[in-house]
Amino acid sequence: MKKIVIGNWKMNPHKTKDAIKLHAALSKGVKGIKQVTTVFTPPYPYLPLVKGSASLALGAQNVDVGSGPLTGGVSLAMLTDLKVTYVIVGHSERRARGETDAHTREKVNGIIASKMNVVLCVGEKERDHGGKYLGEVESQLTTALTDVSRSQLANIIIAYEPVWAISKGDGKGQTATPEHAHEMKLFIQKILVGKYGRAAALRVPVLYGGSVNKENVSELLRGEVDGFLVGGASLIPDAFISILKTTSAYARNS
Ligand code: PGA
Repeated sequence: MKKIVIGNWKMNPHKTKDAIKLHAALSKGVKGIKQVTTVFTPPYPYLPLVKGSASLALGAQNVDVGSGPLTGGVSLAMLTDLKVTYVIVGHSERRARGETDAHTREKVNGIIASKMNVVLCVGEKERDHGGKYLGEVESQLTTALTDVSRSQLANIIIAYEPVWAISKGDGKGQTATPEHAHEMKLFIQKILVGKYGRAAALRVPVLYGGSVNKENVSELLRGEVDGFLVGGASLIPDAFISILKTTSAYARNS
């Protein structure tokens, strides 16, 4: 399977001119990268200024769903109109600010109905020896996918992001091991197989996110994940391109 690497810019950079510069550097750097679908997700204000391309797809970090007035909201129609093709939902930083599994579910349904791809983030707050963290991830996953049919699964990407491994912004927090990532990929696949059957379930990419950087990416690839959701390191063109190159070489050889 082709790998997927998504750059999550979060609330960066603070100036439009820097966003345009970063986008230009990434667009140049992704040229010639094969075997990897690359996506970048700038903050909303930059979406109209930094176009996606065949080698660098445009994503959004969030969306609002439902009808009626919503101060500060950004709708699915707005994202579609801006040619956004991927939308992140359920990120732990949004969950920490009140996004519930029910909201995530609504967003997943809306994104699919709008024919964009969902990047559904799941992940435990901490790992306990009793395995409660597995239940936490299972409930995030199953609630978000409640209404998703087998054919709609083609629009779903899962990003396993253990909250304890997400960096403070520099991409250098406590990284999970390849074993952590692998275990969770299998666990997620098992849940998906139970609901959708093997063939459809095993086509769903399961990414890893949490302090991925150019130093640890080859090690993390040993966890057999289908790619990465990269925060801090996606703001540094050299680091992000290096992650892409390593991932691409791995995909080519496996
Ligand atoms: P990080 O962020 O790479 O800076 O840890 C990952 C994410 O939260 O998507």
